[in-house]
Amino acid sequence: MDLDGLDSQKQSEIDDATQVIKSPIDVPSILMEITKNEEQDDPFYVCDISDIIKRYEEWKAAMPRVATYYAVKCNDSRIVLEVLAALGIGFDCASKEEIRKVLSLGVQPDRIIFANPTKKISHLKFAAETAVTLMTFDSEVELQKIKKVYPSARLVIRIKYDDLSARYVLGQKYGCDHVIEAPGLLRVAASLGLNVVGVCFHIGSDSKDPLVFSKAIAAARHVFDVAANLGFKFKLLDIGGGYPGDKKKSIKEIGNIVNSALEKYFPDLSVEVISEPGRYYVNTAFTLATSINSVREAVQTDPETKDQTKVRMYYVDNSIYGALISIFCDEVYTPRPLEVDTTSPLRPSIVWGSTCDTCDKITKDVVLLPEMNISEWIFFEEAGAYTLSISCEFNGFATPKIHSVVDEEGWLKLTSQVPYPLSRDKFVIGNKPEYFRIGLTGPNKFKTNYF
Ligand SMILES: Cc1ncc(COP(=O)(O)O)c(C=O)c1O
Repeated sequence: MDLDGLDSQKQSEIDDATQVIKSPIDVPSILMEITKNEEQDDPFYVCDISDIIKRYEEWKAAMPRVATYYAVKCNDSRIVLEVLAALGIGFDCASKEEIRKVLSLGVQPDRIIFANPTKKISHLKFAAETAVTLMTFDSEVELQKIKKVYPSARLVIRIKYDDLSARYVLGQKYGCDHVIEAPGLLRVAASLGLNVVGVCFHIGSDSKDPLVFSKAIAAARHVFDVAANLGFKFKLLDIGGGYPGDKKKSIKEIGNIVNSALEKYFPDLSVEVISEPGRYYVNTAFTLATSINSVREAVQTDPETKDQTKVRMYYVDNSIYGALISIFCDEVYTPRPLEVDTTSPLRPSIVWGSTCDTCDKITKDVVLLPEMNISEWIFFEEAGAYTLSISCEFNGFATPKIHSVVDEEGWLKLTSQVPYPLSRDKFVIGNKPEYFRIGLTGPNKFKTNYF
């Protein structure tokens, strides 16, 4: 389709299409274009696809030996999965539904790892039916289950190696001890005639100490050696997730640590190395915009000094049950006014969510914000990881729609240069007002309609 042909697209297709922007992407100005439309009062996301492509390229430069299998649980919106599928990466799926979504994009089953160590039997059967062969385990029960349902599967033993400073430490729930438990489990697998092909670990989501990658890789080496003595020929190392989803943190530092550990412990290049990044790929690409539904001036009394302060309370159109659900796990989102009146004084403020629950508070403490009023907009950056995929519609507040944008270079890459090009009719070109018609009704509005 040529560019003029795009004019004949139906509005519903335009609503779902990614908008190609000729100049470099400037998210606040896109938010302003969208909110100019007075009918627009629902919250919405802008997803900057160019950012996802950039992070893919930065990863390849930082860790050329480590292939990525995106963790679908982190953000399973169709646009994200389509772009990552086009770039040719693999997928980490935790359930039948996640596998189904990825396969529905035309991804071959050998690009999927079923990385849930405790699989439901019906999901295991689905993996067998759809030829998703690679999967993780960390217990004897799982081995017995796999022997019964899918004996030809290729198995990866999950060991525990935690960065205790990570936001989500996972080792209490998953992973066997690499010294005490792994040898016994491998003996059971050998006695059942199962095909164990490698080792995986996850040091914890939003990890803070990259040196733990090095120690975990050393632990995996130990398990490779134990397995070799039992007659296994391991060929796969999966270094899991845990990479930063933060504009200020580069992947280079982790890359240097991982690369040196691989050189030291896995110099044999025939060992395939994969990873399962989630937040790394999507967090920075998403910005959430929400309008202010109500404002109230409240007097707060300091319990010690008895000093009284006036606090301006903003009630916005999203909540900690919606897009900002990771606040439950101490994630911090900074509210930014979309149009700042520089003459307006900064006022002590609290931002509250839209649901009737009192714990639905978006700023943890009182913060300083310029004075704003109802129907003005605020936005939250870095809102792509563990937001859409785990939010719910409590109190009847719908999931925000996604408006995706890409720059010209990214568009060219996705439509012609990537291994699995996307069709050109998935895009609209330019800044026409109708291309900003989002967030009203539409097929993306409710989560269940994403696919
Ligand atoms: C098995 C597995 N792999 C990958 C991930 C993605 O982790 P992250 O988003 O920290 O990269 C998770 C997240 O919890 C996970 O449980």
